[in-house]
Amino acid sequence: MNNNTDFFVIKALEDGVNVIGLTRGSDTKFFHSEKLDKDEIMIAQFTEHTSAVKVRGKALIQTSHGEMNNS
Ligand code: TRP
Repeated sequence: MNNNTDFFVIKALEDGVNVIGLTRGSDTKFFHSEKLDKDEIMIAQFTEHTSAVKVRGKALIQTSHGEMNNS
């Protein structure tokens, strides 16, 4: 399955931004939560295990679909 080629970038605009990975498949579960402080950046991919990501807190998010700022 070609689901893991694109990277996305999340830059925290405040302390305590949570990046939460959700599992692929029939069960949708939180499986990992990464905490970013202001100006920390996470570069990640969707993988065999990760089909969705939830971002809590103010962040700048770049994907191949564009750039989003949820602040
Ligand atoms: N071990 C996880 C995986 O391969 C790591 C991971 C990839 C992840 N992308 C993520 C965790 C996005 C949180 C958010 O699927």
